[in-house]
Amino acid sequence: MDISFRLNGETVVLRDVAPTTTALDWLREARGLTATKEGCNEGDCGACTVMVTDPDGRSRALNACILFLPQLNGRALRTVEGITGPEGELHPVQQAMVDHHGSQCGFCTPGFVASMAVAHLNGDTDHDTALAGNLCRCTGYAPIIRAAKAAQGAAIPDWMTADRAFFLPEISAGGVSNQRFDTGGSQPPAGTGLQPRTTDDLAAAYAANPQATLVAGATDVGLWVTKQMRDLGQMIFLNQCDDLGQIAQGDDGLRIGAGVTIARLIPVMEDLHPSFAAMLRRYGSAQVRAAATIGGNIANGSPIGDGPPALIALGARLHLRQGDARREMALEDFFLDYGKQDRRPGEFVEAVTIPRQPDRLRCYKLSKRFDQDISAVCGCFNITVTDGTVTAARIAFGGLAGTSKRAPHVEAALIGQPWDEASVTSAVQAFAQDYTPLSDMRASASYRLNTASNMLRRYFLEDTGQTTAIMEVQP
Ligand SMILES: Cc1cc2nc3c(=O)[nH]c(=O)nc-3n(C[C@H](O)[C@H](O)[C@H](O)COP(=O)(O)OP(=O)(O)OC[C@H]3O[C@@H](n4cnc5c(N)ncnc54)[C@H](O)[C@@H]3O)c2cc1C
Ligand code: FES
Ligand code: FES
Repeated sequence: MDISFRLNGETVVLRDVAPTTTALDWLREARGLTATKEGCNEGDCGACTVMVTDPDGRSRALNACILFLPQLNGRALRTVEGITGPEGELHPVQQAMVDHHGSQCGFCTPGFVASMAVAHLNGDTDHDTALAGNLCRCTGYAPIIRAAKAAQGAAIPDWMTADRAFFLPEISAGGVSNQRFDTGGSQPPAGTGLQPRTTDDLAAAYAANPQATLVAGATDVGLWVTKQMRDLGQMIFLNQCDDLGQIAQGDDGLRIGAGVTIARLIPVMEDLHPSFAAMLRRYGSAQVRAAATIGGNIANGSPIGDGPPALIALGARLHLRQGDARREMALEDFFLDYGKQDRRPGEFVEAVTIPRQPDRLRCYKLSKRFDQDISAVCGCFNITVTDGTVTAARIAFGGLAGTSKRAPHVEAALIGQPWDEASVTSAVQAFAQDYTPLSDMRASASYRLNTASNMLRRYFLEDTGQTTAIMEVQP
């Protein structure tokens, strides 16, 4: 497929790009831009961090190792070579890294600089959060955070805002390729990529090519290529479908398009369900949250995905589309079994809706690290108490079964009971009826069940104003 984008201030046009080429491989091998490093090649270490600016002018730090070249089409990419000024001037974060001794072996440094430069550009001074996806094994974080703080007040260099100015004239003049596809045409050959611009075009393309692999943020699909060396055949990239990335507040609730990234969801949830936002803040790293979509997090059917348990506890409904046909269902009904979802050929996730409701949601993510770690157990509770009695309960867990799953026996044990310690002590016995968890490297089965019970106890204690967070790491 043909694509074009800006690279460090220059327009690049590429013909016949293999759609699974990662930005990292292309930068290093085709362009010789070797400052961007390969560490883990799976989104975990941040050594490959680059800055990507979207047509709406927003800039993000992304992991180039799990970023396919077609995802850059019509966007602007800046590597650490382009974060340095055109005459070799150091960016303020680079100068600060020198001044504060923020680099020893230097392998991680370009990735840190890219993350720091994006935070600097966006006026983001929460340096711990911005840098949690960058791993340094020798300098240690104190000098790096000191450098980030020292640079935060410095003026933004001109060259860092040039990408934003580029979009209006060049895109409106058609300077960036406008990928179109013929939905009525013959099947494209395997190994090619399609990049629809609207959800209608996506629906038509996927209906015509139901065997294709959909790619949204590629935080899962990227690893199928870099770690599993899979041949993905026909690919359909979703990231140009702007209408799939909309969030709309209606009378009956919130509609979140499948293409909304976790990073964009967080501020919305801060207003409506702050505990969900706090949990999403621990989802991967800044780079992962800036790429991963809620649609991908649902569609992959992972039993340890963080989005589905919270959404199920909120009573979310899933909206699926196949061509022009649409259907919807309670989100929990989508997950049939481990690795099996209720999705037909050519059908995709269009949106998820959350009904308007008072905020009673609490989400507890248990993992070995605070940042950048997959949940061992993720418990989400939405319990309604009226005049001292439990009148409704929606409880969902990740990490306790082959899918994200509700706890019907625990819910039934609570409903109609007084909201007190005795009811909670009795209800937790029912967890063993709802779940038969596995033991794996993250946690044993008994630890998982015990934890689930303790999370319900914690919800009760918090709800009744008692202290609970004794050993918890706080942001
Ligand atoms: C370093 C790292 C850390 C992570 N940390 C977490 C974490 O803390 N919590 C967590 O829950 N997950 C985590 N993940 C997993 C991953 O980020 C999520 O599952 C993510 O939400 C997937 O979304 P995506 O847009 O990147 O999907 P993609 O990788 O593009 O796609 C994932 C799957 O969904 C399909 N798909 C995508 N969009 C649609 C759609 N609209 N309709 C139908 N099918 C679709 C794809 O075909 C594919 O099968 C992490 C991943 C990495 C690499
Ligand atoms: S190489 Fe580790 S995140 Fe990309
Ligand atoms: S300076 Fe060596 S890993 Fe960070």
